[in-house]
Order: sequence, then C-alpha cells, then structure tokens
Amino acid sequence: MARERERERERKRDLKMERREEKEKLVFAVNGERLELSRIEDSSITLLEFLRTKTHYTGAKLGCGEGGCGACVVLLSKYDPIKDQVEEFTVNSCLALLCSINGCSITTTEGLGNSKDGFHSIHQRFSGFHASQCGFCTPGMCMSLFSALVNAEKTERPAPADGFSKITASEAEKAIAGNLCRCTGYRPIADVCKSFAADVDMEDLGLNSFWRKGENADVNANGLPFYSRGGIRTFPEFLKNEIKASMNGFTDSPMKNPSDFMCTKLQVPGNWYSPVSVEELHNLLKSEVAENGNQVKLVVGNTSAGIYREAVKYDKYIDLRHIPELSVIRRDNTGIEIGAALSISKAIKALREERESLPRSNERLVFMKIADHMNKIASQNIRNTASLGGNIIMAQRKAFPSDMATILLAASSSLNIHTGSEAVLLTLEDFLQRPPCDPKTLLLSIQIPSWNSIRNSSSETKLLFETYRASPRPLGNAVAYVNAAFLATVSTQEMSESFVLENLRLVFGAYGTKHAIRASKVEEFLSGKSVTPAVLLEAIRILRATIVPAEGTSHAAYRSSLAVGFLFDFLRPFVKAPMGPENDLWMRISNVVDSTKIQNGGLNGYSNVLADESSENGHLSYRKDHPERPVPLLSAKQVIEISKEHHPVGEPTKKVGAEIQASGEAVYVDDIPAPKDCLYGALIYSTRPLARVKGIGFKSTSASERIIKVISVKDIPRGGVNIGSMSMFGEEPLFADDLTEFAGQPLGFVIAETQRYANMAAQQATVDYDTENLEPPILTVEEAVERSSFFEVPPMLSPKTVGDFSKGMAEAEQKILSAKIELGSQYYFYMETQTTLAVPDEDNCMVVYTSTQCPEIAHRVIAKCLGIPDHNVRVITRRVGGGFGGKALRGLAVMAACALAAYKLRRPVRTYLDRKTDMIITGGRHPMKINYSVGFNSDGKVTALHTDILLNAGITEDISPIMPSNIVGALKKYNWGALSFDIKICKTNHSSKSAMRAPGELQGAYIAEVVIEHVASVLSMEPDLVRKRNLHSFESLQLFHESSAGEPAEYTLPSIMDKLAASASFHHRTELIKQFNGCNKWRKRGISRVPIVYGVRLRPTPGKVSILNDGSIVVEVGGIELGQGLWTKVKQVTAFALAQLLSDGNQALLERVRVIQCDTLSLVQGGWTAGSTTSESSGEAVRVACNILVERLTPLKERLQEQMGAVSWDTLILQANLQAVNLSAHTLWDPDYSSMQYLNYGAAVSEVEIDLLTGATTILRTDLIYDCGQSLNPAVDLGQIEGSFVQGIGFFMLEEYLSNSDGLVVSDGTWTYKVPTIDTIPKEFNVEILNSGHHKKRLLSSKASGEPPLLLAASIHCATRQAIKEARKELLATNSYDHPSLTFQMKVPATMPVVKELCGLDNVERYLETMISHQ
Ligand SMILES: Cc1cc2nc3c(=O)[nH]c(=O)nc-3n(C[C@H](O)[C@H](O)[C@H](O)COP(=O)(O)OP(=O)(O)OC[C@H]3O[C@@H](n4cnc5c(N)ncnc54)[C@H](O)[C@@H]3O)c2cc1C
Ligand code: FES
Ligand code: FES
Repeated sequence: MARERERERERKRDLKMERREEKEKLVFAVNGERLELSRIEDSSITLLEFLRTKTHYTGAKLGCGEGGCGACVVLLSKYDPIKDQVEEFTVNSCLALLCSINGCSITTTEGLGNSKDGFHSIHQRFSGFHASQCGFCTPGMCMSLFSALVNAEKTERPAPADGFSKITASEAEKAIAGNLCRCTGYRPIADVCKSFAADVDMEDLGLNSFWRKGENADVNANGLPFYSRGGIRTFPEFLKNEIKASMNGFTDSPMKNPSDFMCTKLQVPGNWYSPVSVEELHNLLKSEVAENGNQVKLVVGNTSAGIYREAVKYDKYIDLRHIPELSVIRRDNTGIEIGAALSISKAIKALREERESLPRSNERLVFMKIADHMNKIASQNIRNTASLGGNIIMAQRKAFPSDMATILLAASSSLNIHTGSEAVLLTLEDFLQRPPCDPKTLLLSIQIPSWNSIRNSSSETKLLFETYRASPRPLGNAVAYVNAAFLATVSTQEMSESFVLENLRLVFGAYGTKHAIRASKVEEFLSGKSVTPAVLLEAIRILRATIVPAEGTSHAAYRSSLAVGFLFDFLRPFVKAPMGPENDLWMRISNVVDSTKIQNGGLNGYSNVLADESSENGHLSYRKDHPERPVPLLSAKQVIEISKEHHPVGEPTKKVGAEIQASGEAVYVDDIPAPKDCLYGALIYSTRPLARVKGIGFKSTSASERIIKVISVKDIPRGGVNIGSMSMFGEEPLFADDLTEFAGQPLGFVIAETQRYANMAAQQATVDYDTENLEPPILTVEEAVERSSFFEVPPMLSPKTVGDFSKGMAEAEQKILSAKIELGSQYYFYMETQTTLAVPDEDNCMVVYTSTQCPEIAHRVIAKCLGIPDHNVRVITRRVGGGFGGKALRGLAVMAACALAAYKLRRPVRTYLDRKTDMIITGGRHPMKINYSVGFNSDGKVTALHTDILLNAGITEDISPIMPSNIVGALKKYNWGALSFDIKICKTNHSSKSAMRAPGELQGAYIAEVVIEHVASVLSMEPDLVRKRNLHSFESLQLFHESSAGEPAEYTLPSIMDKLAASASFHHRTELIKQFNGCNKWRKRGISRVPIVYGVRLRPTPGKVSILNDGSIVVEVGGIELGQGLWTKVKQVTAFALAQLLSDGNQALLERVRVIQCDTLSLVQGGWTAGSTTSESSGEAVRVACNILVERLTPLKERLQEQMGAVSWDTLILQANLQAVNLSAHTLWDPDYSSMQYLNYGAAVSEVEIDLLTGATTILRTDLIYDCGQSLNPAVDLGQIEGSFVQGIGFFMLEEYLSNSDGLVVSDGTWTYKVPTIDTIPKEFNVEILNSGHHKKRLLSSKASGEPPLLLAASIHCATRQAIKEARKELLATNSYDHPSLTFQMKVPATMPVVKELCGLDNVERYLETMISHQ
C-alpha cells in the first residue's frame, strides 16, 4: 500500500514536471525579432548579459552594472491586450533580470536604425550636433531620448509641426538626466534632445552640421534629419497576437500586464516563479522551492542589485509582479492605496492623476509633494522598474537611506503586510521600528491618508506639507545626505497676530540612521506653540540632540546642520517676527500651501533665480523665474571661426563614426564576438597595504565552484617576467609575489566560463595575510618624508627656478609664510572600463585586442611577461570608450593578465573589469600637499613665491617623475617675480598614481589661483585685480617659459582676458552680484575670471597612407581614437594634403579616406596617445606621408595631363597601379626641437550661487575663450574644450576619490563617486574658440585642445570662494564669539559639505540668536 502511494506520488510529480516543461518558455522580442527560450540555466542572468552574450546586439553597453550610468538603457514595451495599448519605458538592462521580460518587447539602439537600412534621426542628430565623442554612452542616451519622445506622443498636446515631437524642450533635456557622459560635457547632447521639441527656438541650438548660424529658422528646421513620429514599431504584431491568444479564458481577469497573461500560460523556465496570488506565493515559500538551503529572492524590479552587489548567486526567484493585490491603485475619501509592486514611476503618475482631479485640498498638496519628491529618487530609468515595496523593504531590512520611507512616514502612511500566516495593517512607523523583517514577509500595499479631515479654510486651520533632500545632483540620481518631510497644521490664535502649530510630523532620514525617524521631541515642543525666533531656536537645539548620525557616518556634522536648515526653512514663514519680506502671514501660508508657488522647498540644490542677461541692449538684470514655466537646464552659445585656407582642414566636420557609435554598430573590445572556447577572467586584489600573502582561498559558494583556474605569479612562463607595467622610469609587477605592497594590488586572476561567474568568484576570494616582522606601511607623504621614501627626478626633467626667491621676499612689502593646501585624487571614470581579449595564435603567438592608449607599450609588456619575442605579439586597438590617461600605463596589468591566462590555458581569455575593481586598482590623479610662502606689495604685485610640494606617487614611479615639470609649468602662468620650489615624489604603499588629463598642470594652475586669492584676501583687494597685476608681459613670459614662449604675437592671453571681460560683461555682473548679495540672506553669488597658460610637447609619431586600387585611401597612425576626434582630424589632413594632386577641390577625397585601427605589427613605434598633441602630430606624420605620395604621383599626373587634359583621381590611381608606382608611404615624423614645445592660452569667467542652508552650488554661467591657433576642426575642438571643462568641474566641485586607512579605495562605484551630470554643469555655457593663427611651426597653425581647458574649471572653485566670503561677512555680523576669517582655504572638491562648513554649520542658530538679541 505504502509503495503504491509512493509510486502514485512519483507519477504525479513526473506529470507535473512534464506539464511544466511543456509550458516552460520565455517568449519575448528584441528589435522585432522573436526569441523563445525553453532553457535558462541560471535565472540570475540580466537582460544586459543576455543581449551582449547571446545575441548579436551590442548597443546596450555595460558601464557600471549598478543602475548609475545609463549606458545599458533599453526600451521595454508591454502590450495591454484589453486596451490594445502599448506601454513603453526605459530600463537599466544591467539590473533587469532576463526572466522578468516574458511577453515584452525590447528595443535597443540598433532597433531604431543602422548604417545599412538608414539611421534614425536620433542617431543622425547625435552625429550632426557633435554629441558623441568616445561614443560609449551614446546608445544609452539615444534610448533615453527615444523613450521620452515616444511617451510625449501619448500626451494630449496638439500635434506639432512636421518633423518635431510633442516633447517640450525642458522635458527633452531632462530625458538624459540618468545617463552619464564623461566626454562631451553634455551641452551638445542637450541640443540633440531639444532639437526634437516643438517649442524650441532653433536659434538656441548649438553648433551643428545641419545649418550655419545666421540661416533663418525655416532653413534650420528643414536642415534637421526628419523625425517621423511613431516611425518605429516597438511592439511587434506577432507578439501581440500571441498575447491575445494566451488571454483566452482570462478576459475578466484582474491581471493587467501582458506578462500576466503569458505567465499563466507559459512558465518562465529555470528557477523563476511567477505566482498570481498571495496564497500561491506562500505555498511556494513553504514548498521545496525554499527548502534545501536554496537562496530564494522575492523580486520586483531587482534594482536593489545595483546597490547591494550580489556576491551570492540566488538559486530561485519569485516574481511578485503578477499578484493582483500588489498592483492595486485604489482611492476613496480616506486616501490612496498603492500596490507594493507598482513602480515608482507609476506611483508618481497615480498620485499626480489623483491630484489633478482634485480641487484645492490637503490631499492634493500631500500627493503632489510626495510625487515631486519621488521624481528625484534615482533616475527615470530606475524609477520605471523600481517598486515602492522594494524600497520600503530595503529601508526596513537593510537600513537603506530611503527617500520613500521618509516622505511616506511624514504623510502617516500604513502598510498592508502578509507575514506568512496573517494579513496585518501596520503603520509605517511601527514597521520601521521592528527588527528586520524575515524573507517571508510580504508587503502588499501602502496606504497614504488624504488628510482631508483637517479643515483647510482660509480662516481656521491649514495643513502644511513639505519635503526636502540635499544631494549632489539636483535632479536625483544621487542618494541624499539627508532627506526630510514635514507635516503640520497651522491655525490662527484668537486675538493674536500669530499662528499655532499642531499635528506635527517632522521626519528625517538618510543622515546616518537605521531608518527614517520622527523628531518626536521637537514635535512635542512645537505643538501648540506660536513660532517665535526663541521657540525656533529651542526647537533646533532639541533637533540637534535628535539628529545624531551613527558613528562612522561621513560628514556627520554637515548632515545634522542640514536637518536644522530644513526645519528652519519649513518654519521660517510662520515666525512671529519680520523675518521675511512679506508681512501678511496668511498670505505667506497661502503661498506655502499653494503648490504652484514653491519648488520642493527650493532647497534641493536648485535655485529658481537665474541670471537673465539681455546683452543686446546692454542691460543686465536678475529675474525671478516663474516656477510654472519650466526652467531650462541649459542655454549656450558657441563662437567659432571657420577657416577655408586649408580646406577641408578647419571645417567643423562631423566626427568620424559618430552615427555608428549612436546606432550601436561601432565595435569596442567587449563587442568583439567571443571566440570559440573563450574563458573570462577577473582580478583578485589585495586589501592590505603591506603584508605577506600566505595563501588565497575561496568561500564555498556556487560561484566559486565555477572557477576553472586561478592565474598567479606562479604561472609566468620560464623566460617570462612578472611585469604588469613599464615606463621610461621603471617597471611594475603584474601580481604580488609573496608580498603585497598596496591595497588594490592584483594577486591573481580568476578564470571562469562567464564574466559574471569570474567576477562573483573573485569576490569570494579570502586572502590569508601575515604582517609579522614587517615594517609598517607608508601611507602618508609625511611618513614617506620621515623614512626618506622618494623617487628620483632625472635632472633633465627637473623644472627650472626663476630669479632669486630670497631677494624677491626681501623686496616684498607683505608676506604670507607657510600656508598649506591639500589636493586629493580623481578617478578617470571612462565609461568603458579596462578590457582585453587575448587570443592565442599559431607558433606561440598572441593576438591581443585591447582598449589602450599605448598599444606599443602594451605590446612590449605582454611579450616580456610571456617571455616571447616582440614579433610573436600583436596588439590591436580600434577605439577606446574613454581614456583620460587611465588607459595608458594603468591598464597594462589587465592586458598582461589576460594574455598570460590565454598563454597558459591555450584558450582565448577576455576580461572586462567590473567598475569596482577598476576603481580600486587603477590609481588615478596624484594627491599632494602643498606649502607656500609668498611675498607681495600692497598693490598686489607678487615679488616671490616658493612652494614645497609632497606628491603621493604610490608604489612605483609610473610617470610621476614628469609631474614636477608639469606642475611648475602651469604654476608659471603668472609672473611671480621670483619662483622657487621643492617637489618631492613620495613612494608610498598606495596604488601607483598616473597621468590623468592635465596631470600636474591641473594642480599647478590651481595652486597659482590659491596664491592669488590669498594675496587678494590679505590685501582686501578684488582677486581679479591681483590676477591682472601679475599677468605676464611677453618679456616675463619668456623668462618663465624659456623654450616655449614663441613669438610676441603668439602671446594672446592679455587680449583674451580683455575680450572675455567684455563678452561676459564681467565688470557689470560683478556689480550686480554685489546688489544680489546685499538683498539675499540665504543665497550668495560669486564671480571669477581665471587665465591659463599651458605648455605642451610634440613627440615623434608614425603615419602611413596607402591608396588602394579603387582610389580609396587607408590611413594608419600611432594615435588611438579615444573620442577626441583624432581620426576626423587625420582624415581632413589627408584629404587636404592629397588634394595637391587634384585641380577640382577635395571634398570628394574626404569621403574616400578611412583611418583604421591601430595594429602594432602593421605600424611600429606608435608611442602614446597622451598630452593633447597626438592628433596634431599624427596629422603631421600623415601630411608628410601624403607629401611623399604626392611627390611620387606628380610626374605621372603631369604626363597624364599632357596626354588627356584634366586627370581625375580614379584615372590617376589606375594608371599609377599599372605603372607600378608605390602607393603606400610610411613615415616617422620627428618634431623639430625648436618648435616641439609651445604654450596654449585661454580664460574663463564663471558665476555661481551657493545655498547657505545646504551648501549646494549652482553654476549659473560660464564664459570661456580658448585659443586654438587655427583649429583643425572647430567642432571637435569645441567638444574637447567643453568636455574637459566639465571634467574639471568634477575635480573641483564633485568627485571625492576616497580610500580607507589602509589605502583601499572606498569610492568604488557610481553610488559613491559622483561625476558631473547634465544638471550640475553651467546653466549658461558660452564658449568661443579663438583662431589666432600665428603659429607657422604648428600643423597648419593649429594648437592643442584636449587638456588645457580643464584647468579653467578652477574659475568655478574661485567663484564659489567669493560667494562663501560674502556668506562669512554676514556671519561676522552675528554676535558670536567665534568669528570666521575672510581668509580661508577651501578644499577640493568643494562639495556641499565643504561649502556649508565654510558658511557656518551653525549659521541658522547664529542668525536666530542675533534676531533674538535685537528684539
Ligand atoms: C542607482 C540607484 C539609485 C537609487 N537612488 C535612490 C534614492 O535616491 N532614494 C531612494 O529612496 N531610493 C533610491 N534607490 C533605491 C530604489 O528605489 C530601490 O532599489 C527600489 O525601489 C527597489 O525596488 P525593486 O522593485 O527594484 O526591488 P527589488 O530589488 O526587486 O527588491 C528589493 C528587496 O525587497 C524585497 N521585496 C521587494 N518587494 C517586496 C514586497 N512587496 N514584499 C516583500 N519583499 C519585497 C526583495 O526580496 C529584495 O530583498 C536607488 C536605486 C538605484 C539602483
Ligand atoms: S551599466 Fe547599467 S546603469 Fe550603468
Ligand atoms: S561620448 Fe559620452 S562617455 Fe564618451
């Protein structure tokens, strides 16, 4: 009997399995192509991994894997068969799980258009507006924009003119707020976006290849590539039909999503479960699914994987999205209930829809504020899939610094929760205070009350609700330092002029607390009170004692001061004292209650007051923007001169390959299809600065079971060397041998079947360290000095002092002695991390495809590591997804590790570093400590400057010995009278620091500005006057820059300074700013004009030009296309130079030139792509090669001309082939010593506004003039200027590249490292390229543009200092004992905490104390 029952059970189980297998299918579409998967081995595969490894689509890129960069963005479309409607939104495919897209359609940038069938107008406009440089971000940008356009079409707005979208210009700009670009500086991308908007003023669009400035608006509109609304079908018919078919029998079902229908019919294969009821879910959780130690994850959007990097591989996933209770939107007069699985975007929409249908009511106010705040959570792409429930569960279970919990708690929300055994209704407050909930707890929905029971008439009681967040990016995409939400009622006190607060809910979160909390003591204290300055001050004191960040929280004091600022801002209108300009209290309250009057507290790093300059009539004024009118993020002007002299050189032609970059067809290393039997590697690195490595083990997990091999120093072949980098100064090991010498040093290379398994396994590594009898590591420059741990600077690289410092000091009327500043590091943040594919070839050879700035050095390192001759190695680099110096020496170890693994295993091996590893191992910019003494006269003229600089170089020399000359070169931008210095390159137990865009020059130029500002401050002079006073004359320039000063006419800096003062209305605006500062208490402005002098050096460079049989031309250069437009300029130069053979112009020739990838066996001695001069020297090399060809072909051309008259290019080449003329010319161009160094000049004026309550800085406007000599391509140079300036904003204002006490980098992802986004660049950005053209020794008179403009971003730091000074002047007026000085040092980057600290962390309290004392 028992056996029979057992058999019956088995039979039923088998039947169930069979049925399941029949139904197990994942059906979806990618770019209209049907895909059906009946086997998914691993349900943790993301959509991105699937697209990139299992399809031929490469448009979606991996930039971070954290949801923080937008490179992976694709469009996801869902079909609703009942409404016959398609819903479209973007998702971060790096987080979306493949199994979650059953029944959906995916559109990648390839789905919009391509080179064969025609590009989409988005692709064409990215190219035509010069908005794609390295191109790695471009596909993601295209998809974010495309989604915004598609969704704008669904609005009720009137149909726009042909070729335009219904989108508004302001919406269009914001479409890419969740996408990072490290190259362009965003301005041209914003222009692309705005070009689709029907309300755009065509005149406001920037430089492009569709029309020239001055052409009329109609011409402009017609010139744009046509946008056909609805031109792309994002959801294919076949899938609609399948969904309709699968729906049979479910017509009355409450299910709404297409995948709901699909999932009832089809089950997703693998370990993916889609229950359609709470009961089914709990049965699943009770069943074997969750047994046997299975790692089970309840999942909705899976965006939490971007925050908590999953080292654990989940065995099973349970998708919550198909349970109807979790998707409800229910409203009645008590409030609204929102299902926990609803995305944040949908919740926002629901709240706004409700709001719009409501009259003026409390509910309207509360819902609107919540929706507006939610709109700043993460990015649009994340919000589209991130659920409310997921957020709240993370806040409760993992102490996640949630915004959602804060705002919902303030609104007194409740949660419907299923604990596994029962359904309960809990207040959010209760839920947050409970111990972390278990994995079986299910959050069903969230209820937000309407608050309508509180009366809101004009004479009795009003409800107040406001939310706040302070974060480095105003539009979101950055977690808040502190968030807050406040609710209160306010009523008139009879017979009194004051107001009384009741029902307070003051909630604060994200400040270093386990979860959002109510400041109950403050609530109690304020309750029933009328707010006077004294009451407010006392409330703030109580608040200070409440908001105490947990130990170890960064910027703890800043965070609690933010909380004070928020409360102050909330209560300010109700203080019974004349604190504000308006005296009618009810009016003040009405303004607060009326949602259209204020913008999210006005505190979110945003200012709604913008400079409004009407430069035409010369009148300047400041206007208060109407909040109802959307404030554009950006306006800009570009002034360029186009020279026809060397046509097509000098033309602003489009960047080569920009369209294919946009359409995703451009091939980067990781886009090369994996060869057969390819394996994948991930680096294991040390977390200790100095320790013996006794052994490497792995935690036993399913990921570590997948390890195929761990490559280490032991695998270096006989004859090979443990080498991971080399420079002219020394070598660096590939792997630590027995001793690890810095945190971040590679210890081994884990090999697995996929990149994800390799990465996960590497994370499971456990290293056994031993530090017994070892000296302590050297972690600071001071320790290096103490232990004399230095690298030598070869005498030929030592910079020269100028004049006699002691004499200069003796002559000075005043002195500053031993002032100190400190500069931190900066990470490259190229969008494409280090990547390599190594393929073993016959006869002991190795072909290496890699993303490098110096293939020649990579070649040598790999050959030396493997112990094989150089001719056995071939390194190929086509394009690089951003380098900025980080893909020169710092990437070599990755290439060597890959080649070593491939050599050892005799199989192709590739790697694509995850962002965290990349950030930890690659080093970055040199941090330094500077001490200066300066002598000066009372008129501001400096007579002598001495600096002592301690440079933290890390463990090896890398390029550090060139740093002193770079620093001093840029420091010499002013005439210091006499200049001396002592620069020590400290060897420390940190990762080696290397060249990063403008290495040393950036710091040198900044030090110069600090000195100038310090002198100005001591003398109480305008810094601009001191700058002018110390600007070089040509004579002093020659003294300071002996070999590079050039001719007097080339020294354009003084005229640039004057020109800029006029074009930027510098002096007039300085006056206006004084007025502004005089009438604004909590916002201050500053302005600054900064010059640069930047020396560059040309290097020997090869070039090869070959003309093929059909007359097409192929060009090889040593330089690499990094996005800087090298190929474009080289192409133009080739066309120009070969045109000597033509009598009928050269435009057609331009189209026939192709610059091809760098191949170290085809073109040797390629050198480096660095130092801003590679385009120029590659161009010169190509010109010389072309001249050789011209010389060879001219006799033939003349003979033919005599015979036939005019000779076409095709005829000439055909005849040359027949007559055996050598049609390939190769040269190594070696610059002439007398002209190999030269100086570049430019200047910038920046104006900023700071918020004294939050420390937020808004860059209101930047004007910049840069001398490009005679620009080879003004569009390309403009891109370099704007892009590098914005990278400079990152250095000066945002990017904190921090390490722990062991030197291990802790700013290791997009979560903690904030590069500029579109909302952090200047709101008005005007750039002029000066074609000074006095440079006969340069390639066609051109000058460099890649690095120097980065230095000009110091103008923003200096302007911020001016604004802070104004704030400090006011603090001086308070009755405090602790008066701030007007001379102060300001850290770099000047982040929000830095600015706020300098403005006074207690400025609110001081202000209130002053008020009280004056009463
Ligand atoms: C780049 C980025 C930036 C962000 N910025 C912010 C920010 O500024 N402010 C902010 O508040 N948030 C921010 N977030 C967090 C984001 O809002 C959450 O990641 C998201 O809401 C989680 O929802 P999800 O559906 O993706 O959850 P999932 O990742 O699917 O799940 C998260 C966790 O919750 C569990 N879970 C999910 N739903 C339920 C449920 N109904 N019942 C029980 N358990 C459940 C899951 O098992 C899992 O443990 C950011 C996230 C990212 C990736
Ligand atoms: S790769 Fe997906 S957001 Fe960066
Ligand atoms: S073009 Fe945007 S990251 Fe390079």
